[in-house]
Amino acid sequence: MFVYILYIFVYILHVSQCCCLGRENFIHLCNPHLEKMKEDILYHFALGTGTHDFPSLFGDVKFVCVGGSPSRMKAFIAYIAEELGLGTPGCDYPNICAGTDRYAMYKVGPVLSVSHGMGIPSISIMLHELIKLLYHAKCSDITIIRIGTSGGIGLKPGSVVITRQSVDATFKPQLEQVVLGRTVIRSTNLDEQLAKDLMQCSKEIGQFNTVIGNTMCTLDFYEGQGRLDGAICLYDEEEKLQYLKNAYESGVRNIEMESSVFAAMCNLSGLKAAVVCVTLLNRLEGDQISSPHDVLVEYQKRPQKLVGYFIKKSLGKV
Ligand SMILES: *[C@@H]1O[C@H](CO)[C@@H](O)[C@H](O)[C@H]1NC(C)=O
Repeated sequence: MFVYILYIFVYILHVSQCCCLGRENFIHLCNPHLEKMKEDILYHFALGTGTHDFPSLFGDVKFVCVGGSPSRMKAFIAYIAEELGLGTPGCDYPNICAGTDRYAMYKVGPVLSVSHGMGIPSISIMLHELIKLLYHAKCSDITIIRIGTSGGIGLKPGSVVITRQSVDATFKPQLEQVVLGRTVIRSTNLDEQLAKDLMQCSKEIGQFNTVIGNTMCTLDFYEGQGRLDGAICLYDEEEKLQYLKNAYESGVRNIEMESSVFAAMCNLSGLKAAVVCVTLLNRLEGDQISSPHDVLVEYQKRPQKLVGYFIKKSLGKV
């Protein structure tokens, strides 16, 4: 009880400290120090305000899609270009972050597609720089969606989960982070209306099973997700299944490794955000991803299809 009250206190303290001043629909920059900097170098993008004209490069961005793998984010930009009638067939989309191999970034019209690697630390570094990029570019009315892969719980493989709440490995809707040696708790709220709009899009497409459910965000792929097939595992199958069943009962429908910090950082920055992940397997039935390659490739296209349709519809092109 005491710990819980302490958590709430720390949370309120945190929120009240945050200087999220900003006009509605613009990026809320939660860092007063940035205003004093003459130049801002986005090191892991190999971009900087001293060398690149952010408003002219990115000022028209309205939709940002992020996902783990660079090649998937490149495939997404080609797909969305075609869908929006902005592409020329066979056209190659240059990587805007070609000066580094940390992340890859592609743009067509109002859509920006960025890779974030695996896990909370990797996506968090990317999001710090992405949010500053959107701020420096004076972007407004941004919708940001993570499109990814995940392990499902109690769902047919290939189902798509739109995240209601991102929860941690103890099923709490929060992100714990240590800042200056103190643990801060950040809320992992996502945009409810956006989740509903995406669900409606899935109904209109009618090609695959889609649910709205909680997404558990873990710090690891093996022990952290109760797998029995890692290099280290000191629990048995029964304990594993009990954990996954508890997760299911608390509302969790899939497991991945980025949604909590994505939700927390987007919320603090005033970005309308959603997480859309396909499930590659049902974790109640196994640990290894053993479906044939072409089946997995098709599964991975489902979040792209759903979000592609949503963007098209938002732009009045459906
Ligand atoms: C952030 O979360 C709060 C609730 O804690 C919510 O009222 C607000 O609309 C959220 N902001 C965005 C941009 O989603």
